[in-house]
Amino acid sequence: MACILLTGATGYIGSHTWLALQQAGFDVIGIDNFVNSSPKVLARLAQIGGLEPVLVEGDVRDAVALDRCFELGRSRFGGIQAVVHFAALKAVGESVERPLDYFENNLGGLLAVCQAMKRHGVHNLVFSSSATVYGKPDSLPITERAALRVTNPYGQTKLMGEEILRELERCDTSWHIAYLRYFNPVGAHASGLIGEDPRGIPNNLMPYVAQVAAGKRPHLNVFGNDYDTPDGTGVRDYIHVCDLAEGHVAALRYLADQQQSLTVNLGTGQGYSVLELAQAYGRASGRDIPVVFAPRRPGDIDACYADPTHAWETMGWRAARGLDDMCVDSWRWQSTNPNGFEG
Ligand code: NAD
Ligand code: WQD
Repeated sequence: MACILLTGATGYIGSHTWLALQQAGFDVIGIDNFVNSSPKVLARLAQIGGLEPVLVEGDVRDAVALDRCFELGRSRFGGIQAVVHFAALKAVGESVERPLDYFENNLGGLLAVCQAMKRHGVHNLVFSSSATVYGKPDSLPITERAALRVTNPYGQTKLMGEEILRELERCDTSWHIAYLRYFNPVGAHASGLIGEDPRGIPNNLMPYVAQVAAGKRPHLNVFGNDYDTPDGTGVRDYIHVCDLAEGHVAALRYLADQQQSLTVNLGTGQGYSVLELAQAYGRASGRDIPVVFAPRRPGDIDACYADPTHAWETMGWRAARGLDDMCVDSWRWQSTNPNGFEG
């Protein structure tokens, strides 16, 4: 069975993908420097999956650390067949304050990973891209053919990452790359043992709502109620992180079987407003979610949801879990781990 290297393996999406890959029979090696994750994830992965995780603690910009991953892959599992590159900084607001750090980490990291893959003769790569590359879309739902435009340094690292990789595969046809454009990943593993563990005040909606439900924050600030949407609040395509994780399994199989690249949206195709999500979370948790209307957040758009048809037609993947599953699973994680991985 194939062995996959996950960069950013102990992060939110990486940890769920680790389990999905194991479940599908893949061997996994991870690398992470814990800049935005906890080493305590590893014990939880072992508890759920029943296998001791193989992880190199290191920075993906460190060629020696990456070479260790490939050597471990050879000695433990007969060689790495593909890489899923999650490792990146992802906070939009922070990227405006520290653009150079984002370019260095996200683009420097991507180049270092590709160089290491080349050194070790591995050419199948899954790249974590984002719906942020569509900026403010001209029409909805968003297909993969929509115009690409970005509005902040974080988004720029995803767009430039895609461009670098497209140029790479044009020059060297041995590369096969899956560009996965995630919409809004939320929820947690059904075990309640792993989930999203943001540091400080959550930037994103569902982790914030989770903390309101838990009584850690008094109310949800709804950023804008005059958008061009049915209830005036922003509409997004929330996707269960386990569906997203399974999308990576499908993409890896596609690369191995079809020997060609692909670009796909990973979303459900269904948009929900801020108020709809808050109400669903209230139902799932049995807690009140008080809301306070606040000004629009700079850079936000009215609505963003995927046309997920291409993912279904190419790799036979589509999301199976709905908004209530996302909220129930998020709440199980939040309520049983009130301080995330720290206890
Ligand atoms: P996350 O922060 O939970 O995970 C990223 C992991 O990468 C963390 O564990 C962090 O410690 C690690 N990391 C960062 N820089 C590193 C480096 N230089 N060397 C080694 N490890 C490093 O984020 P996530 O939500 O799991 O996101 C994973 C990927 O998906 C990222 O590339 C992100 O940009 C992309 N993405 C996320 C979302 C989202 O809303 N969560 C949406 C679209 C795309
Ligand atoms: C969703 C909706 C907010 C918080 C971001 C990144 C994007 C991608 C996913 C990585 C919006 C509203 C939020 C709150 C609110 N990440 N909101 N009160 O902005 O769609 O996407 O994460 O690639 O690049 O920009 O997600 O969860 O922050 O916001 O009213 O406290 O919730 O205005 O309408 P977003 P989000």
